[in-house]
Amino acid sequence: MANIQSNKFCTKAIHAGYDSQLHEGALNPPLHLSSTFAFEDIKQGADRFAGNAEGHIYSRISNPTLSILEKRIAALENAEAGLCTASGMAAITSVLLTLLSHGDEVLVDKTLYGCTYAFLNHGLSKFGITVTHVDMTNVDNVAEAISSRTKVIYFETPANPNMRLIDIAEVCHVANQNEIVSVVDNTYSTPVITRPIDLGADVVVHSATKYLGGHGDLIGGLVVASTELIERFRFEGVKDMTGACMSPFTAMLILRGLKTLELRMQRHALNADYIAGWLNKHAFVKKIYYPFDTDNCQFALAKKQMHYGGGMIAFELEGGFQQGLQFMDALQLVQRAVSLGDAESLIQHPASMTHSTYSEEERARHGISNSLIRLSVGLEDKDDIQNDLQYALDTLKNFIAA
Ligand SMILES: Cc1ncc(COP(=O)(O)O)c(C=O)c1O
Repeated sequence: MANIQSNKFCTKAIHAGYDSQLHEGALNPPLHLSSTFAFEDIKQGADRFAGNAEGHIYSRISNPTLSILEKRIAALENAEAGLCTASGMAAITSVLLTLLSHGDEVLVDKTLYGCTYAFLNHGLSKFGITVTHVDMTNVDNVAEAISSRTKVIYFETPANPNMRLIDIAEVCHVANQNEIVSVVDNTYSTPVITRPIDLGADVVVHSATKYLGGHGDLIGGLVVASTELIERFRFEGVKDMTGACMSPFTAMLILRGLKTLELRMQRHALNADYIAGWLNKHAFVKKIYYPFDTDNCQFALAKKQMHYGGGMIAFELEGGFQQGLQFMDALQLVQRAVSLGDAESLIQHPASMTHSTYSEEERARHGISNSLIRLSVGLEDKDDIQNDLQYALDTLKNFIAA
């Protein structure tokens, strides 16, 4: 942090990485819409290219607005350095393409966001990289699966869409002992709830599209790690391989979103905790998946590594596919949409939306039943959210009574 020194999360979320006095007192960071940067003389240019002098060259590599966001997310995740990318998928692909080469192996959890799964299985495997899926809810499985070719261990927690939790400290400890780089997708939790670097992770990736931006108006990604790794991801991953850099406009919006991140996450979690408790007792709901649900078999782990239960709930309705469709169509306030972490409550039915191209058997294998619903609890009044869900659940009455 420039002038304002604090280790408190919300102070860092507002001030870290920016000194207004270096920008004519502008309290909000200026937007640097410049593709390229002029050198005072050729020596300055040569020094920057050689890495002997700091300064910007070209916005696919770095940009002053992005640099502020990179410092801010690093401060929030307690990491040495940060990197902006065009999307969450750009963060994931830039990191993995940097760390892995032909012949290497990456160990990944069984449950992953769909496009991450597709990149690993249809993308990386095309380049001679072995992708091994392991149930990482048991750390012994991870230790057993490691081979001399394993270079990266990758997982999400909570995982999308079924909310499984992985013990970050345990899995990263095993990775560390074996000199394997651990990468954690912290999109669902954000650093308000979990800070994987403090628990031993080497790299954290984010879809900033979600809670970090927080307003559903951008697509962006962020990475934090050691300075050494971040410089590799910047030059090998983003500059040379994916080219997937963030726009300065997007960085500005994320900087704005981060200022209220802690407040928003507290409210998301408060609302979600209430809705999860209510859904849990509802006669038409078969099962709920929420980290801070006391009946959750991973409750102790949730309490160990999460400050709040977060804003995401998955639940299964009584009935099957048809009941899922009927419930979804009856909603009025809660919006039928993919993505998560917006102010608006968003809901999706994987069997008819994100996972509709899977066969029923494939869905079952991934733990996605026909009546599974994923809810991103928004910032609306909790009673309004509850009433909307209640109304939609009531439409299942005839089926349940039959
Ligand atoms: C857990 C997780 N990681 C990564 C991504 C990809 O992020 P983006 O859509 O910003 O590329 C998503 C998107 O939904 C996600 O849910």
